[in-house]
This record gives sequence, C-alpha cells and structure tokens, in this order.
Amino acid sequence: MRQYDRYLITSALPYANGPLHIGHLAGAYLSADIYARFRRMMGEDVVFVCGSDEHGAAITLRAAKDGKTPKEIVDHYHGLFKETFDRIGVSFDIYHRTSADLHHKTSQEFFTNLYEKGEFEVIESEQYYDEEQKQFLADRYISGTCPKCGNEEAYGDQCENCGSTLSPTELINPKSKISGGTPVLKKTTHWYLPLNKYEAWLKKWIAEGNKDDQQLHDPAEWKNHVLGQCNSWLDNGLHPRSMTRDLPWGVDVPHHIEGHEGKKLYVWMDAPIGYISATKQWAEEKGKDWEPYWKDEDTALIHFIGKDNIVFHCLIFPSILNAHGDYILPVNVPANQFVNLEGDKLSTSKNWAVWVHEYLDDLPGKEDELRYCMIKNMPETKDSEFTWKSYQEANNSELVNNLANFVNRVIVLTNKYYEGAVPEFDEGQDLVGPDDPMDAAYHDSELLRLFDDLHQVGDYIRQYEFRNALQKLMEISSKGNQILQANEPWKKQKTNPEEVPVVMNLALQYVAALGTAIKPFLPFTSDKISALLNLPKVDDHSGFLSLMDALAEGEHPLKSGHIIGKPSHLFSRIDDSVIEAQVEKLKANAHKKEEATAAVSNPVKEEVTFDDFTKMDIRTATIIEASKVKKADKLLQIKLDLGFETRTVVSGIAQYYKPEDIIGQQVSLLANLAPRKIRGVESKGMILMAENSDGKLVFVAPSEASFENGSGIR
Ligand code: MF3
Ligand code: ZN
Repeated sequence: MRQYDRYLITSALPYANGPLHIGHLAGAYLSADIYARFRRMMGEDVVFVCGSDEHGAAITLRAAKDGKTPKEIVDHYHGLFKETFDRIGVSFDIYHRTSADLHHKTSQEFFTNLYEKGEFEVIESEQYYDEEQKQFLADRYISGTCPKCGNEEAYGDQCENCGSTLSPTELINPKSKISGGTPVLKKTTHWYLPLNKYEAWLKKWIAEGNKDDQQLHDPAEWKNHVLGQCNSWLDNGLHPRSMTRDLPWGVDVPHHIEGHEGKKLYVWMDAPIGYISATKQWAEEKGKDWEPYWKDEDTALIHFIGKDNIVFHCLIFPSILNAHGDYILPVNVPANQFVNLEGDKLSTSKNWAVWVHEYLDDLPGKEDELRYCMIKNMPETKDSEFTWKSYQEANNSELVNNLANFVNRVIVLTNKYYEGAVPEFDEGQDLVGPDDPMDAAYHDSELLRLFDDLHQVGDYIRQYEFRNALQKLMEISSKGNQILQANEPWKKQKTNPEEVPVVMNLALQYVAALGTAIKPFLPFTSDKISALLNLPKVDDHSGFLSLMDALAEGEHPLKSGHIIGKPSHLFSRIDDSVIEAQVEKLKANAHKKEEATAAVSNPVKEEVTFDDFTKMDIRTATIIEASKVKKADKLLQIKLDLGFETRTVVSGIAQYYKPEDIIGQQVSLLANLAPRKIRGVESKGMILMAENSDGKLVFVAPSEASFENGSGIR
C-alpha cells in the first residue's frame, strides 16, 4: 500500500459573505478535521490549511446589499469564521485569507507563470454589460431563467435548482444583479485556459490515477459521485474557460501584462491558490519549508469540499497545477454531498439555516453534541438531513445513554471500590467456569478485540467513511457497557469482591482507549475523559499511535495504581423545550426573511409628481358600523365618521375581521376616490390597508388616538 511522507489537507475556503452554517460543517470542515486530527495522532506529518475566500461576486454583491464596502464585509466574516472554527474545534494549522498580500503575490506569480509559458488563449467575446453601473456581468452578477429547468433565479454561472453549469448568454431574460436592469452585449478580451487541450490528460489522470499500481492516488478509491461528476463533464467535452474578469474587486492581473487594466483574476483561479499561500504563511510562521508540501511526490494532497466544488478541484485546479508543472496533484477529493434542514434545502438567502456561532451561543458547551450529530449524518455519499429532533435523539440515546453512562459508571465505581486507584488484578487469575467468565485470559482477549476494533476505526477514517468510524467507536462504548452489565461488579463486590478488579480494570482500559480514539471526532469530550482519568490531554501528535502500539504490545493503556479523577457527567439530556425553542427560532427567522423578500419583490411603482400626490385627499376616520355584504364572502359594508360627515364604504376584509370587532377602529381613508357601486352598495372612498407577512390585511391607522376624525393626512 502506498505510504506518504506527509499530508497536506485542505478544506474549501468559505466565501466571506455570510456566517457558517451546519451544512458547511458537515461538508468540508468536520470531515477534514477528523482526517487531519487522525493522521496527526498517528504520528504523520500533517498540515491542515484553510482560509476565507474574499473575492468574487459573492462578496461584492453582499457588500452592495448591506451598504458596506467589500473590505468591511470580508473583515467581518473572516473574523467570525476564524473564531467560529476555533470554538467548534476545527484544528486548522493555519486559517488564512485571500485578501492577504502574500496571496495576491502568490496567485499573480502563478498567473504570470502560465502566461509566460503561453498556456492562455486571448479571446475577445461579447459579454453582458450593465450600462448604468458601467460593469460587465459575469457569473453571479447576472441572473435569469435557466434554459434547462425554467428556474427564474438562475445565475450566470450556475442554476442552483437543477445544478446545470451555465454561461450568462444562455440565460433567458437576463437581468443585472446590481441594477436590476436588462444588460447589453459589449466586447471584452480575456485570458482563457484551454481546458479542451487538457481533456485527454484529465481523463487519463482521473481514470488511471485511481488504480493503486499507478501510485498516483490514495489507496482509497475516489467516491463514486465524485467520479460521476468528473466523467459527466469530461463526456460533455471541456471548453476554454476564462481566467480573468472585468471587475473592481479581486486580485489584479499582473501589471506587466499588456491589457491588464481593469482586469482581475477569476475567483476560481485565485481561491484554490489560496491553499498554497496559506501553506506558505504557515511555513513562514513555523520556520519551515513549504515547498515539499506542494512539490514532493511523496506528499498526499487531499481536498475536502462540498459537491458544488467538484469540477473546480478535480478538473480546473488540477489543470492549472499541471500547466504550471512544478506542483503535485490531489491524491483524493473526498467531496461530500449536501445536508438538508428540517425537510428543506439549507439556504443562506432564505435564512433557512442553523448558524454555527448562534448554536454555540444558544447551547454553550455543546460543541461535541453538534459535531456528533453532523458526523453521524454526514452526507458522504448522498444528501442527508438534520432535524432538531434527530439531534436530541442522538444526544439523549447515544451520547448520554451509551457513552456518558459507560464512562460515568466506571469512574463512579472505581472511586467507590478503590478510592480512585486503577485496580491491580491477578494476571494468573483463572476463574473460568460456566457462570464466571471473568479472568485474566478474558481481560487479554477483550483488549485484543478492542485493538481490532480501533484498527477498524482507523481503516474507516482512511477510507473517508467517517460515519462508520464514529459508529464503530459507539460500538466500543456499548461493548464497555456490556462488560459491566454481564459481570455486574455492583453485585459481585458484595459476594466475590476478589473477582471485581479484573472487570473494573478492563472497563477502565476501555474508557482510556475511547478517550484517545474519540479525539478526532469529539475533541472536547476527549479532554473531559482525560480529566476524569486524571491524565494529561491526549497527545494531538501521536496519541492514537501510542495507544495502538501499547495494545499491540499487550500493554495496558492505563497503569494499575494510577489515581483517576472524580466523576462528572460527559453529556446531559436535552429537553423538548430546548429543541422546540430552536425549531421556533428557525421558523421565525426564515419568516422575517420572507417579509423582507416580499417587500423587495413588490417594487416601488412608477414615479408620481407632487401634484399627483396632492390630488389625493386622505383623511382620518372612525368605523361606527359594520356588517357583511349579502352573498359576498369577502366584503364588509362599513360606515365611517369623518367628523364633518358619515360615509359608507365597501371593503374586502371580511376574511380578516368580524364586523363587531372593528367598531371604533380608527382608519385612514382615501376620501376623494370616485364612488363605485359594489354589489349594489355605493362605496365612497377606500380604507387604506397594509398586507402583513401572513397575507392578512391590517388597518393603516393613526397611531395616536388623539387625532380628530377628518384630519388630512399628508
Ligand atoms: N468559496 C468557495 C465556496 O464557498 C469555495 C472555494 S474553494 C477554493 O463554494 F478552492 F477555491 F478555495
Ligand atoms: Zn436549472
């Protein structure tokens, strides 16, 4: 099997345009974190890099929406990301950012290298242009109807509804995302990477690199859904792809290149190079050499991403690296699919998300509970689902009832029977009998089995099967519980206390092993178990390896006579009320967003003159009588007091109000609307109503009751 000298592990650089949600976590961060932590704990040389993706339309559009500068936006989210990753225990060796000078320099050097090798084709084409904003509209700057599925909100680069990759000129009814106006076509020149030329090479690399004897890829197979996407792109044929854009924000095309004015690198050219600049920054800080990590064939480069990033990491970035020539290629790209939330797609724009920083604020100290639930439901091969109910269930029945219960029983009993000292047992003890299986041989064979199980955990991680790995760990915990259950030390302590040490010693070895092996998954819990065992924290740099070595030698991870700590619970039950509050919050927030969108999707009407406005006579009035209009479900006949006269109007609000409930209600009335006969009743004027978020009409009333009826509203 292929061995590597070092591991360079990357997680997709998140766009710094909105907070991190649980979909991010389950996609590219927890998977990478488990893998990186495990490899480190096996004594491997690991660098785990990430950073904020601070360029592209995602950023500038967000800035425009919030009335901020792009710089303000990226500074804000970069800070939030760094802090959030730290709080949830993602163990990056460096968290960098693409606005850093080092990154601009690194990506410009890359661009120059390809430029000077003649790798780019210069192509002039017609692209959509917003005349009002004087800007070209590539990628997400333009939206329109998807030609494939009819989704009216497709972007210039992609339709999020059907997943098709698009180009702006394919959109039906294109609209500028900046001004909302209809764009015009205008000529522009860009540098293109001729992906079509790399097609044959990519095909070979994807297909053959995947075989062990080629020694190009990981021993682990690439995931089927990743290969599937790659092959479908390759089968459809690749086209030259522009590596530059006409934009005000991003990495400048190097100034020594003719025609650079106003041109920036395409965000998908600069962002993956962010992995390289992050590695450089890390090396500089640590006084190391970055180059072997990117240039030595004995480095395993592994990209953890979400499925929407597959084409960029499996086809485009490898082509860029290959065109440069000095760089290694990824040995695997174990992309995850998507997580849905409570039955719907996660959506930042609809605010349908569980934001990680808010979770950490709302449920302090429950980092690992979230990690557990997201790993358990990781969308490794297909989309998965997060529900608050399943989160509660996983916590209460697995973390509390299985893991915490096992660890707690062992710590409590050890304190009770042996004053906290790991009990010694007679290594020659041979108690084998039909109803008494506990003896030294049993202890040995159970530790051997533990070794095999832990080995299996490692194998699963190496295969990117994190769900299975976590499940195996929970089985080890169940096994620990069974050891206690089958031997009932609490009974034996009274009848045959000499038989108890071997049971308790074995159970303690299980706790110690779990405390180590669980660290890549639940690092906070590992630290707590170490504290319960009165041990230093498990070594992040070789802890797993030391455990496996000890078990392989037949040594006990926990030495007899060691004094453990005092009991305290690892996890506690989560009540229905907590879960209900979170579900409520989710719904309430999504709702707010709908209101905001409703207002936006109901654009302001055409301009009117001041004269137009003064023609309308709007008055305060009070409802003095109301009744239903016969044979008309929606209509109320309403009598109003205007101070100087009374009026009758017919209003379509019967679904929302009972006649008797609105007597005395103050309203605003458009008093000089031409009279109309409605269902035989003459209506003189119109009561002004606003539509609330449920679609209900509510009165637009003077807020101070002291207004007199008949006052003019201006
Ligand atoms: N910002 C991109 C996203 O959120 C991911 C960039 S990954 C990188 O989809 F390779 F470009 F860095
Ligand atoms: Zn579509």
